[in-house]
Amino acid sequence: MEHTRIKELLIAENFGKEVIVKGWVRTFRNNQFIAINDGSTLNNIQAVVDFANTDEQLLRRLTTGAAIRVKGELVQSLGKGQRVEIKVTELTILGDSDPEKYPLQPKKHSLEFLREIAHLRFRTGTFNAVFKVRHALAFAVHQFFNERDFVYMHTPIVTGSDAEGAGEMFRVTTIDFDNVPRNEDGTVNYKEDFFGKSTNLTVSGQLEGELAAMAFGNIYTFGPTFRAENSNTTRHLAEFWMIEPEMAFYELEDNMDLAEDLLKYVIGYALQHCPEEIEFLKNRLLEEEKSKPQNERSELNLVEKLQFVLTNDFERVSYTDAVEILKRSKPNQKKQFKYLIEEWGADLQSEHERYLVEKHFKKPVILTDYPREIKSFYMKQNEPDAQGRHTVRAMDILFPGIGEMVGGSQREENLEKLLKRMDEVGIPEEEMDWFLDTRRFGSAPHSGFGVGFERLVLFTTGMTNIRDVIPFPRTPKNAEF
Ligand code: 4AD
Ligand code: MG
Repeated sequence: MEHTRIKELLIAENFGKEVIVKGWVRTFRNNQFIAINDGSTLNNIQAVVDFANTDEQLLRRLTTGAAIRVKGELVQSLGKGQRVEIKVTELTILGDSDPEKYPLQPKKHSLEFLREIAHLRFRTGTFNAVFKVRHALAFAVHQFFNERDFVYMHTPIVTGSDAEGAGEMFRVTTIDFDNVPRNEDGTVNYKEDFFGKSTNLTVSGQLEGELAAMAFGNIYTFGPTFRAENSNTTRHLAEFWMIEPEMAFYELEDNMDLAEDLLKYVIGYALQHCPEEIEFLKNRLLEEEKSKPQNERSELNLVEKLQFVLTNDFERVSYTDAVEILKRSKPNQKKQFKYLIEEWGADLQSEHERYLVEKHFKKPVILTDYPREIKSFYMKQNEPDAQGRHTVRAMDILFPGIGEMVGGSQREENLEKLLKRMDEVGIPEEEMDWFLDTRRFGSAPHSGFGVGFERLVLFTTGMTNIRDVIPFPRTPKNAEF
């Protein structure tokens, strides 16, 4: 390779050496100073051209966004805030960028604007930082599980099963519309659409993960999952990535311990390996907060917030206790919750989750033992309590500013109980035959959970809209490329 990455040059000591840099022009000032970025770091390197001896035509092509090759001597910089710069001896334009048409200008653009040109936003400092942190988190996930001897299991994207029983799935249909199986009235026969079968995009790899856990002991999946929920929120995507470990011989407490360890490990990894990026994102947030009234600004900056999570135990509390807390609380002096929790058994709304995490406990909270009726069929049932109420061994992890980050449970390993529950919620036994074999042959206690990867990236980067932490967000009306 004839060129050196800018990241390496910025820490280089060998002044006087001839170097070649390839990258894109961020700014070109005074006909003399080119700020070049090649993506290897948030920082630009400055290249100084001898404009008196450089072709005027060439100088005019040094516009924001142009790809260039620069050869020159690495010298100590006298400029403020930079150690090194390049004294240019050779300058080549590799690709022009018409300044009249190029949408990115050397100024701060709003995230809303950048979302509209999502195909170009990688070229900004903010998105360089966000996706470097995303990379670090993903790498750390694999490292965490690899260190603990978990097997990375690839589960299918196209599947005939509806793991969550939520019915929010994307159907997979054949592209050959002339040969789509049709009913007598001409409508598509979805039941036979995938070569004679009904299929959808996976909502979760859990059920297939359980099959593998019953042989390997400890496995995890990490891949895209799909939910056809038409909800336009800052926390939901139609396509998101999920990390789903599944462990044989784990009870709910072991499950919680593992989830807490995982989150702390990967956030700690990002803090350690992306100090520049997180510092940049921290300052970005501080800048943004200046426009807010004092009492709405957060007490902790991004780095302090991450460190707080690393050094404090998550609060573990049952749904029943949480409901008691919520019944006694007022979110502030005057206001009530929009949805009052009057009855035990109601699902918690995000305002309740946020209250528990942000106002009451002020730290991540693991909520356990939810009412059976609001959770999935596969969760292990507790003995009914003194009032005869039915709960399951579920756990949700709630994070400040995010809400639900993790959903998981100990699984029902008893075949009869599982069959009874499936019957109650209307899941046909014959459709789940393959899954039920785990309970027929060598059934064992086991547990698992799913981490919404984008919500983890949201928390770690301090970004506030989930569309800004996935390279190509899939939300209603957002699927061009
Ligand atoms: O709570 P969920 O639906 O749990 C499951 O899918 C289980 N099968 C996981 C398991 O036990 N193996 O989803 C898990 C997590 C949520 O806590 C949330 O963080 C994230 O996935 N999530 C979403 N993230 C972005 N957009 C959406 N539409 C999401 N739906 C869930
Ligand atoms: Mg959930």
